[in-house]
Parts: sequence; C-alpha cells; structure tokens
Amino acid sequence: MANDMNNSDEERYSYPFEMPSEEAVAFSDGAIDGRPAGVPSSYDKGGSLRWTPDAISEVHALAQLGRYQVRGYNCFNQRLPTFDDLTFVPATMTRLPLEGYREKCDTTTILGNSGNVENPLELKIPIYIASMSFGALSASAKAALGYGASKVGTMTCTGEGGMLEEERAASERLVYQMSPARYGLDLDHLRRADGLELVVGQGAKPGTGGLLLGMKVSERVSKMRTLPPGVDQRSTIRHPDFLGADDLAVKIEELRIATNYKVPISIKMGATRPRYDVAIAAKAGADIIVVDGAEGGTGASPEMLLNHTGIPNISAIRAAREALDECGMSGKVSLVAAGGIRSGVDAAKCLALGADAVMIGNASMIAMGCNSPRYEEDYAKLGTSPGACHHCHTGLCPVGIATQDPDLEARMDVAVGAERVARYLTAMTMEITALAKACGKSSVHNLEPEDLRALSFEASAFTGVKMAGIDRAFGW
Ligand SMILES: Cc1cc2nc3c(=O)[nH]c(=O)nc-3n(C[C@H](O)[C@H](O)[C@H](O)COP(=O)(O)O)c2cc1C
Ligand code: SF4
Repeated sequence: MANDMNNSDEERYSYPFEMPSEEAVAFSDGAIDGRPAGVPSSYDKGGSLRWTPDAISEVHALAQLGRYQVRGYNCFNQRLPTFDDLTFVPATMTRLPLEGYREKCDTTTILGNSGNVENPLELKIPIYIASMSFGALSASAKAALGYGASKVGTMTCTGEGGMLEEERAASERLVYQMSPARYGLDLDHLRRADGLELVVGQGAKPGTGGLLLGMKVSERVSKMRTLPPGVDQRSTIRHPDFLGADDLAVKIEELRIATNYKVPISIKMGATRPRYDVAIAAKAGADIIVVDGAEGGTGASPEMLLNHTGIPNISAIRAAREALDECGMSGKVSLVAAGGIRSGVDAAKCLALGADAVMIGNASMIAMGCNSPRYEEDYAKLGTSPGACHHCHTGLCPVGIATQDPDLEARMDVAVGAERVARYLTAMTMEITALAKACGKSSVHNLEPEDLRALSFEASAFTGVKMAGIDRAFGW
C-alpha cells in the first residue's frame, strides 16, 4: 500500500474509461471570455469570510485618512441580536386575553416615584423622546419633538449642550441633561426643568464623551456651549465632581437641594456591565436609571465604538432589572431601556423584559422624515440614498433634522414634524396595548418575561427568556 502511494499520478488510479478532453472538464461550452464556466471573475459577493468587501474598504479608508472614521446613526454590527429574536406568547388556555376592543389597558407611566421628590414624572404612555442635543439636531427638529411628545402626554430631553428656548416652550415636560463636560450648564435652566439627567455614558460610545463636528458648531450652538464656533467639540466623559459611588451620592444630594427636592434625577449609562453599574447608581440615590444598549443612536461617534462596544439592549434589561431586585430598589427606582427600539412591538418586549419605560432617538427622527425619499439629489451628494443615510455627523442632513444650516433646516416643518411624532407615538402605544391585551394584561406594566419566548438559543441565553417550544431558559 505504502509503495502504491509513492507511485506517480498516472499510475495511482486508472479510470475504467478514456480521459475526457480539457475542454469537457472545464465546461468550456459555458465559458465567458475564455474563463471556464463556474469560475467567478471576481469575488464581488465576498470570497473570504474575513476579508469581506466591507473589511477591505475599511482598511482602504483608514490607510487614506490616518485616523478612525466618525459617523452618525447607530450600530452596524450584524452579530447583535434583535428584538425579532423574541416572540410574544399571548393568552390561550392557561391565561385569558383581554377583550381587545372593549377592555382597557392602562398605559400611565410614573418615573422617579422614589419618595425622594415632590414631582415624579407622570406620563400618559411608556415611551418618551431620548436626550438628543441641540447641535446634533436643528432647533426646528428639537421643537417638533417637544410639541409631538407633549401632544400625547409624554416628555423629551435636552441632551448635551444646554436648554433651547424653543424646546422648553414646546415641551410640557422637559428633562435637562448634565454632561460631564458641563457644556451649556445653567442654574436657571436646571430649575426650569422637570427632571435632571446625569449622563455617564451612551450606548453608541460608552466610555467616551459626546462629539460634535465643527460643521455643526454654528454661532448659536457655540454660544450655548461657550466654545469657539466651527471647531470640533469633544466632551469629557468623567464627571469632575465624582469619582465613585460615594461622591455620586453627594452630587445627587447637591442637585436635590438645587432643585428643592422637586424633580427626579436620572443617571443615563451605556450598557456595559449593567448588573453592577445599575446597582451602584441605585445605591447612590438615582430616581431613574436609563440603560442605553449598544444599538443606541448618535449624532456622531467613532465608527469602531458604534460597532464594537457595549452589550445589546435585550441582554441589558434583564440584568438591570435583576440588579434592582437584588438591592431591593425595584418599585423605588425606575428603569428605562433605550437602544434600537423601532416600534411598539420592540417597546413592548422591553417592558416585558423588565423596563418601566423606553426612550427613543433614531425612531423619532425617522418619524419626522429622516431617510425619507425627498431631496434625493442631496442624499446623492453625500454619497448615499434615502433609506441608507447615516450622515448626521456631516451637518448636511437633506431633510433639515441633523443640521445647523439655515437653508436645510427650513426643510423641517415644525408643525408637520410634531404631528408625525405624535402619530408615531400613538401608533406605538396602540401596538403595545394590543399585545398586552392579547397577553391578558390590564396594564402595559404587567407584561413579564413569561409573556415571551426566545427564537434562538442566544436570545434565550441573553435574556433568560424561555426557549420557544422547549420552555426552558438557557444559561441564565
Ligand atoms: C442625533 C442624536 C443626538 C444625540 N445626542 C445625545 C446627547 O446629547 N446626549 C446623550 O446622552 N445622548 C445622545 N444621544 C443618544 C440618545 O439619547 C439615545 O441614548 C439613543 O438615541 C437611543 O437609541 P435609539 O436612537 O436607537 O433609540 C443622541 C442620539 C442621536 C440619534
Ligand atoms: S436623513 Fe438626516 S437625520 Fe437622517 S440619517 Fe441622514 S443626515 Fe441623519
């Protein structure tokens, strides 16, 4: 046998038929341009799993720029699970559904009802508009969000960089964000707010601060932030006033005194180690904790942070809820989930996983007209098209939402934007109540993990939700 292996190829094996011609072996009857049929001319669909066309163009871009890329919108990492990995299991025999058209399902949502402040935030629906800065968004977009949210009884947040008068006027309830960089921090604004939000991180870029490229730093933005116009603004991420939980407790007490114990104080964090981070924030005295998953939107962020930092929203919510349960803070400290929420269905899944409310950023911009098929020539100038735009960082938003250019901003009609936001929030709420009633709940806050099943082992392991059919949770 060993000798046979050493024989030449011709001797190794003899077909019981004549050797076919080279032409026949190469299927040359189907050849194109002399290339044998079946041999690709190029690997334009990605021949290598490692060096995909995207990976190659990333190297080309880095080699040209000599720095990382910055862009807006959200995470493009396709390995993150989505809310579609979970499904609802409505009432059938073991539970009774509510009568869809006749029985009511309560959507009232109270945030910050910790007993520490006089005016917790009472919302008519469990959804509100995320903190998005004036600077990242135009003044018209900010005002439209405020009016739209107010029309349906919910609230919006300033984001970094100060309180815009148009937004204050438009918003029945407005939360004032205090970033570590203290851009736009003003004691008068602090007292005119209905809630405060201390941001220690965002899902789109945990561990780093805000970023606003020079093109969007207009005269007005720069005045509000007391920084030079036209220059990139990078915020610090570490609050100068606190280095740990003990200082944070002192800071929260200071803010309570400044606001006369009237309004709730939130801590907003990117989802990284929610089990521990949430426990620390709760112990330090936060009334509300916002956990922003890796899918979270942004006006501008280094691309590698968008795609490769943080953990997905669905895995953060259960861990955060368990942290609050373990330190006896559920019911006292409210939990808000954010990041990648597209619809009432996604929001209902967040509530079922343990959130008290959800906050939306990108979805509210899309409701106002982001990525809508108008001004197509301007999308083309950015090298993109409606439905694929993620160019908020450029300040050249074709629909006037993420810009400070007065001509572009004029395309953003405040009344139309507000009405679209209000209708979108209404539709989302209808989706949530329809699902909750089907699951037999008279309040959206009664949704629970048992109302869900996971469609993949990963989703089950990420959330502790039982696997469909098997009715057992994996690895929780
Ligand atoms: C245009 C834009 C601007 C933002 N500005 C801020 C900001 O100033 N401060 C902050 O904490 N988060 C900011 N965020 C993040 C949002 O508050 C929120 O965490 C995120 O958008 C939630 O994810 P979603 O967009 O998938 O709903 C911004 C997001 C967007 C899309
Ligand atoms: S349309 Fe405007 S808001 Fe939407 S992604 Fe593009 S630049 Fe951003």
